[in-house]
Amino acid sequence: MSQKFDVVVFGSCIVDFISYVPRLPKVGETLHGSRFETGFGGKGANQCVAAARLGSRTAIVGKLGNDTWGKNYRVALRSEGINVDHVDIVDGESTGIAQINVAANGDNQIVIVVGANNRLLAADVQKCKDLLDGAKVLVCQLETPSEGTIEALKHFSGVSIMNAAPGMENIPIELLTLPTIFCVNESEAALITNMQVETVMQAKDALLKLRSMGCGIVIITLGEKGAIFQTKDSSRVNHVKPYKVDKVVDTTGAGDAFIGALAHFIARNPSAELTECISAANQVAAFSVQKTGTQTSFPRLSETGLPEDASLHQCFWEYI
Ligand code: RIB
Repeated sequence: MSQKFDVVVFGSCIVDFISYVPRLPKVGETLHGSRFETGFGGKGANQCVAAARLGSRTAIVGKLGNDTWGKNYRVALRSEGINVDHVDIVDGESTGIAQINVAANGDNQIVIVVGANNRLLAADVQKCKDLLDGAKVLVCQLETPSEGTIEALKHFSGVSIMNAAPGMENIPIELLTLPTIFCVNESEAALITNMQVETVMQAKDALLKLRSMGCGIVIITLGEKGAIFQTKDSSRVNHVKPYKVDKVVDTTGAGDAFIGALAHFIARNPSAELTECISAANQVAAFSVQKTGTQTSFPRLSETGLPEDASLHQCFWEYI
């Protein structure tokens, strides 16, 4: 009998080339950076690693290039305890790469060239049905072609989370209507709704627009302002308060830490309220911004101080 997974990610694997700079460069400017690192990234893999570190049984479906980066990445994923049976090394493609600048205040800018990730297609869904069947939570992003993601969402019967990142104009309607949970940050919400999203109340307006566009549960993450969400059968919007940190070092991958943690808490705590899962995921993301790197900053559950059972986590929220 095949293993049943808590969290299956259908998505991207990218290698990160990270430059640490005093501030983000202006257009046309050359800046001296202070440090350079490479790391394993890609929103899909990051989210899978975040869930695995917290204790979920995880698998990822993805594509890597037939190069040293791709081969090493597959080994690294396996060493996290992640099932990589459906992570293919693709001949004639390079592994996806991201050029990342991280400023001293923790801000970042990222350019991705996704390479082999473009080969994650609808036909791959049939091949990984053994993973999808019986899995509790499916997580998808927008660094791989939409057709494959739509097919995965159509075939999945558990809780699906669509993290519409990076932001996309003219997003296919199925990516809004098929997932159980549609989750974006402020800039992604702004791009999809064509609205300004800077304050909590503007985010609420964007959330209501996303609902009117056909989304089920919508979560908008707001960085240091926490997150807002509305469920399908509620007319009210909840504002889940942030987990405060003393010093932000690097925000790269914090959104992925949130998504992976959210998937983990939903999968492992079916009786927990969504508010509690979001609040616990906020705490995991807050942990990650206090360390450098992407996956290197993701905690194990024991490091977070969170209880195993998310419903025992004390959270703060209000209707807005
Ligand atoms: O969300 C952070 C990630 O975005 C990085 O790891 C980079 O690979 C890009 O996909």
